[in-house]
Amino acid sequence: MQDLKILCAASLIASVAFTGAAWAESEVDPALVEAAYSEDGKYFTEDDLPTYKVQEDGTVDWPTYSGFRRYHSECHVCHGPEGEGSTYAPALKKSALEMDYYDFYDVVVNGRERVNASEQSVMPAFGDNPNVMCYLNDIYVYLKARGTDAVARGRPRKKEPKTDAIREEENACLG
Ligand code: HEC
Repeated sequence: MQDLKILCAASLIASVAFTGAAWAESEVDPALVEAAYSEDGKYFTEDDLPTYKVQEDGTVDWPTYSGFRRYHSECHVCHGPEGEGSTYAPALKKSALEMDYYDFYDVVVNGRERVNASEQSVMPAFGDNPNVMCYLNDIYVYLKARGTDAVARGRPRKKEPKTDAIREEENACLG
């Protein structure tokens, strides 16, 4: 009997360790993606960074849905559909998880170039483009959701409604 208990305890520890390993394998720190609180239909991590929220029935938060649309109007031509990357530009579903939020922002605002004899890799600056800047958090959370596979490929079928606060912010930003 004693042996059995020890065995059970051991397998419990093993399964906990395994869950931990799954996160480690994809190198995603849960604190980076887990929604700790929401505000007016938007979700944030415990560090106050924007993140996604997917309910059990697949309903996504409005910003994730909006990000899906904006990504596919402004970014996918170079970065490939659904953040998968292309021969020309990196897979942003990975970048959104691996890059610091502020670095991610900085590259989009200011652009980035690697131009030399063997390569010509140019990320344009979008800082003056309201169709990107007013939705950059949406694009960012959508890409994070793609990076963890919380959102499957394709258009999310169910979404939370757009809140009045989000609509007001959008109007103020677009000017
Ligand atoms: C004209 C093509 C093009 C478009 C459009 C474009 N990008 Fe890029 N982007 C690139 C290239 C090329 C790079 C790699 C730049 C380098 O080599 O430094 C890049 C790099 C980035 C990076 C850095 C990724 C990393 O892992 O280092 C981010 C973030 C990014 N783009 C976001 C965006 C977003 C968001 C949009 C849409 C609003 C967008 N890009 C639209 C071409 C593009």
